[in-house]
Amino acid sequence: MWELHIGRTTQLSVLSPCSHPVSSPPPRAPAPPPSFGGADPGRSGGGRFETWTVGELLRWTHEKLTRSGIGNARVDAEHLLAFALGCTRMQLYVEHDRPVEDEPRARFRGYVRRRLAREPVAYIEGRRGFHALGLELEVDRRVLVPRPETEHLVDWVLEDLRGVTAPRVLDVGTGSGAIALALRHGREDAALMAVDISEDALAVARANATRLLADLVFVRSDLLLGVDIPTGGFHAVVANLPYICSGELATLEPEVAAFEPRIALDGGDDGLRVIARLIDQLRERDAVAPGGAVFLEVGAGQASTVGAWLGELGWDVDVRVDYARIPRVVRGRRPGPSVEGPQAPL
Ligand SMILES: C[S@@+](CC[C@H](N)C(=O)[O-])C[C@H]1O[C@@H](n2cnc3c(N)ncnc32)[C@H](O)[C@@H]1O
Repeated sequence: MWELHIGRTTQLSVLSPCSHPVSSPPPRAPAPPPSFGGADPGRSGGGRFETWTVGELLRWTHEKLTRSGIGNARVDAEHLLAFALGCTRMQLYVEHDRPVEDEPRARFRGYVRRRLAREPVAYIEGRRGFHALGLELEVDRRVLVPRPETEHLVDWVLEDLRGVTAPRVLDVGTGSGAIALALRHGREDAALMAVDISEDALAVARANATRLLADLVFVRSDLLLGVDIPTGGFHAVVANLPYICSGELATLEPEVAAFEPRIALDGGDDGLRVIARLIDQLRERDAVAPGGAVFLEVGAGQASTVGAWLGELGWDVDVRVDYARIPRVVRGRRPGPSVEGPQAPL
């Protein structure tokens, strides 16, 4: 698939990484239209250099990824080329006709190979933006790639805690630290604790917190079992726990099934095994402050069951939908006086 070469124009100039200013390209002979029949945009062939422009590389890769059944192929191609060049996607448009030098082109070739093997772009880049502009998380195969749906949960929690000064918040199943770090970004005064059962995930979350200079307490814990519940409880317990039925895991897209950690996905036979345990522990440990709330991300079709469980505790239940109008976040508020004003720390 990557072995054939096609004749290209002789190299006239090369593209510096877009992050550095570049002058206009020297004139060059019109290039023949790229052939997609197995050519490899990262290799030089026939004993001479080949020149590929940014635009040609994008077109070639878009076509290649599409043929391999990858959705969003154009966006992925742009992400990978911008990453290889150390520039933004926007700069690719400005530099559309620039030739790309050998080194970034070779890097790009490696990234495209990985994407063709269905590795998620976030793992290839080792990063993913989440929730707030500029909040970039480092991610790898030890953690779930944070999803846009989860941003609804973060928005709701931030909204809910507006009247509470220095709220105590617990993120259960923190993974990359996405939710906790987005909450820290939105609420500097919050006392935040983040737990995960996976030491690997915690290592990623801790590294993200250190890089972002975010002050959080991390604890390795099976749900609440290793957590010291603060006096008065948490004002918000937030969780995006695994919620996929074990039997469905093999049917998921290869990006998820083959690359994301099973412990981040597998919710047992009905998908709700972990969430049900958390709700039991919230009650047994008296973990939520009166007037405080739990926010749970759930899968399609699960909100009513989870809402009913919280209702059985006598809690008030609300549900919010995601961008696709799927009921995605369930909030259960424990009855009690509304929590306002400054709170004791963790
Ligand atoms: C769906 S991922 C979510 C990660 C992150 N909160 C996010 O939204 O991107 C679920 C996380 O829960 C963790 N987890 C699974 N079972 C757990 C348990 N019993 N106790 C604590 N964490 C658990 C997994 O290790 C994983 O990091």
